[in-house]
Amino acid sequence: MHESLFQPLTMGALETPNRIFMAPLTRGRSTQPGSVPNEMMATYYRQRASAGLIISEATGISVEGLGWPAAPGIWSDEQVEGWKQVTQAVHDEGGLIVLQMWHMGRLVHPDFLGGNPPVSASATTAPGHAHTFEGRKDYEQARAATVEDIARIVEDYRKAAENAKKAGFDGVQLHAANGYLIDQFLRDSTNLREDEYGGSAENRTRILREVLTALIDVWGKDRVGVRLSPNGETQGCDDSDPATTFGAAAKVVEELGVAFLELREPGPDGTFGSTDVPKQSPLIRKIYSGTLVLNSDYSAAEAVADIDAGRADAISWGRDFIANPDLPERFKLGADIAPNVDVPRSWYGKGPHGYIDYPKLTDEDQAAVG
Ligand SMILES: Cc1cc2nc3c(=O)[nH]c(=O)nc-3n(C[C@H](O)[C@H](O)[C@H](O)COP(=O)(O)O)c2cc1C
Repeated sequence: MHESLFQPLTMGALETPNRIFMAPLTRGRSTQPGSVPNEMMATYYRQRASAGLIISEATGISVEGLGWPAAPGIWSDEQVEGWKQVTQAVHDEGGLIVLQMWHMGRLVHPDFLGGNPPVSASATTAPGHAHTFEGRKDYEQARAATVEDIARIVEDYRKAAENAKKAGFDGVQLHAANGYLIDQFLRDSTNLREDEYGGSAENRTRILREVLTALIDVWGKDRVGVRLSPNGETQGCDDSDPATTFGAAAKVVEELGVAFLELREPGPDGTFGSTDVPKQSPLIRKIYSGTLVLNSDYSAAEAVADIDAGRADAISWGRDFIANPDLPERFKLGADIAPNVDVPRSWYGKGPHGYIDYPKLTDEDQAAVG
């Protein structure tokens, strides 16, 4: 079934065997202290290697950029060694994996920064609570990045991209979505700057261009992707004119020749975020000519419809890959899709439960549905 999902795809330098991608998923299982990837994470990713492409969980590019308990990083040699077992495991199974590169900006609680404020486009405070090692705490006000900070952050991305190469990834994806640092610069609710990084949509996309240029210096444009979330508010980050802002962002991505662009676009009935703001993917599809990956709340049938109509080249799944390590096989057979258990505890919790203990279909299961 669902043949369109099983057409191979050439995406820059990557040849994906199918169009069923695994979306980036923070799971909070790295070894502490040090935010180091470990054997259990290698097992988790190995189990999911039949995805056309795995986009890794969001991974801190620097100490300053990471404020999520037990999420991994990519700034230290120890982390690079840890990631090697993950990339090796995925490659052993014939899979592909790119690293999602993360700077959380104002969403880093000062607890992670020795009491210092986080950095953002402007001195704003996110609504709601941060997860810290001591439980939930209110977010605190960020400080506005100086131009020198921005240059340093671009270099932090470059070093992290070099580390990703050493760790054996097949490429990188810049996390420019969901209200984190790059998104804080892109959108006008969080970017109040009056210098060359604020004001017009072109200025607000400047950091996106600079970071992508650094990643391309390291990897070549054929192995660099980016994720945006163009419609609706996320973590207090919003925009008064998404078509103009994300049209400008898509133009940057097009001009730089980035290999793939993934969009998280919830609908009005979304089950992981919802919004009445229209999806921007039809507009972005006209501007960006590379591989377009769409995400959020897809069934296999809806994915086939969007690919067949030319609205997308591939679809990424988040929660369904958590509970169904062999999601492509299940789609092929039309088998049941298992639900996530013990949510949200097992999403981000410690240990193997709800992480590496979801079964694949057995031979008997396959015979019964196939
Ligand atoms: C547990 C969990 C962790 C997530 N972590 C990330 C992340 O690290 N980076 C990111 O860009 N999105 C993250 N997301 C969003 C997902 O990538 C995806 O956009 C969302 O789950 C909607 O897709 P779905 O309907 O296929 O689940 C996360 C979602 C969940 C449920």
